[in-house]
Amino acid sequence: MKFFIDTANVREIQDAADLGLLDGVTTNPSLLAKEPGDPREILREITKIVDGPVSAEVTALDHDGMIAEAAELKKLGDNIVIKIPMTLEGLKALRTLSRQGIETNCTLIFNSAQALMAAKAGATYASPFVGRLDDISVDGMDLIEQCCTIYRNYGLATQVLVASIRGPIHVQRAAMLGAHVGTMPASVIAQLAKHPLTDIGLERFLADWEKVKNRS
Ligand code: G3P
Repeated sequence: MKFFIDTANVREIQDAADLGLLDGVTTNPSLLAKEPGDPREILREITKIVDGPVSAEVTALDHDGMIAEAAELKKLGDNIVIKIPMTLEGLKALRTLSRQGIETNCTLIFNSAQALMAAKAGATYASPFVGRLDDISVDGMDLIEQCCTIYRNYGLATQVLVASIRGPIHVQRAAMLGAHVGTMPASVIAQLAKHPLTDIGLERFLADWEKVKNRS
């Protein structure tokens, strides 16, 4: 499963890239709004750090506006992927961009019918939001299972990009289900490497080594 980071913070992206595990980045208008400075310049900088897709979202609501915005966003970097909301106009835009050979990420997916439509429209990635479903007492991971099954059933090329990840369990379950990508905040990437038994084990190894290291 590919690891994307879900942030517009350049330092977090650089840190994740330095780990050597970073396959791509997803941003959205809310994430860009948290960072100081021109959002376009931030996106341009991100595209240079990451050797992989960088999702940048359109804000127009109509097909023509989305296509015009996509053309502007593509100028920021070759690895920009156009994030399009799951709406009827968005589906039309996905089709147009797919015909132009432009990679897309269909966002704000909350049920499997939406995911199926995104794939039929030619989206490169479809982003079901698991955490926001969990927030309203719907199991977000059930949706990931449905998306993976449906795409497999019909040999659809669209990649399931698990979004709105809130913790390691989401990542582990997504990988078990065969989801193609997980996008997660920096905090979750850090949590993934942690286990209390790893910490205890390491402490014990180091303590034992202290006892014998000066023996000759
Ligand atoms: O980028 C889309 C998605 O990952 C947002 O997550 O935590 O705002 O629900 P969240």
